[in-house]
Amino acid sequence: MTSEKLSEVTVGKEFSLPEPKFENSIDLFSAFKNRKTTKSFKNEPISLQKIANIFWVSGGYNRKDPNMRTAPSTMNWQEIEVYGILKEGIFKYLPESHSLLKINGDDLRKIAGFQEYVHEAPLSLVYVANFEKMQAVPGKFRDINEQDRVFFSATDTAFNAENVYLYCAGEGLGCVVRAGVDRDTIAEELKLGDSKQVVLGQTVGVPK
Ligand SMILES: Cc1cc2nc3c(=O)[nH]c(=O)nc-3n(C[C@H](O)[C@H](O)[C@H](O)COP(=O)(O)O)c2cc1C
Repeated sequence: MTSEKLSEVTVGKEFSLPEPKFENSIDLFSAFKNRKTTKSFKNEPISLQKIANIFWVSGGYNRKDPNMRTAPSTMNWQEIEVYGILKEGIFKYLPESHSLLKINGDDLRKIAGFQEYVHEAPLSLVYVANFEKMQAVPGKFRDINEQDRVFFSATDTAFNAENVYLYCAGEGLGCVVRAGVDRDTIAEELKLGDSKQVVLGQTVGVPK
C-alpha cells in the first residue's frame, strides 16, 4: 500500500486511514535499545499503513467510551492536535475517525523545518496545542494560566513524540523531534488562529 492515494484527496475532504497494524512484531526491549534521533532521510515515501500507524501512535484513540489516547495528557485535556506535512499536502489527523483531513494540496515540506534534511523526508508531524481545551477542572487544580498552558502542552507533546520514537525504532524508521520549526509560517499555513500554538515538529522517514 502506498501513500499515493493521499495526493488524490480533494482539499477539505477526509481520507480514512487503514486501521493501525504493525507489520513487524515490535519487541519493546529492542525498541528501547534502538531508540535514537535520525537526521538524514531518503527522499522516498513510506507506506500508507506506516503513515496510519504513525498518526495513531502519535495521538490516536486506543480506548472507546470515552475516547482515550495512546499518549497521556494533563487532566485528560487531549489538547494536542497532530498535523502532517507530506509531499501530498498538509493534513490534520482526526482521531475520532482515524482519518486525515486535507487542508492543502501542495508539497510544502520546505516550511516544515529550518534544517535541510526535513525537506527531503516524506513526513513531518506538527504538534499543535489547542489552548481552549486547557481549562481548570473544578476541585482538581487551581486556575490555569498562560504559563501552565505552555508548560503542560509541551509536556504532553513529549509523550506523543516519544511514542513515535519507539514506533520508529521498532519499524526501522528514522525520526527526529524538533524545536526548530517556523512557528509563524506554519501557524499561518494551518490557519491556527489565536487559541492554538505550534509546540514541536517531528520528522519521520527511511534513514539514509
Ligand atoms: C525538545 C527537543 C527539541 C529538539 N529539537 C531539534 C531540532 O530542532 N533539530 C534537530 O536536528 N534535533 C532536535 N532535537 C533532537 C536532539 O538533537 C537529539 O534528541 C539529541 O541530540 C539526543 O540524541 P538522541 O535522540 O539520538 O538520543 C530535539 C530534541 C528534543 C528533545
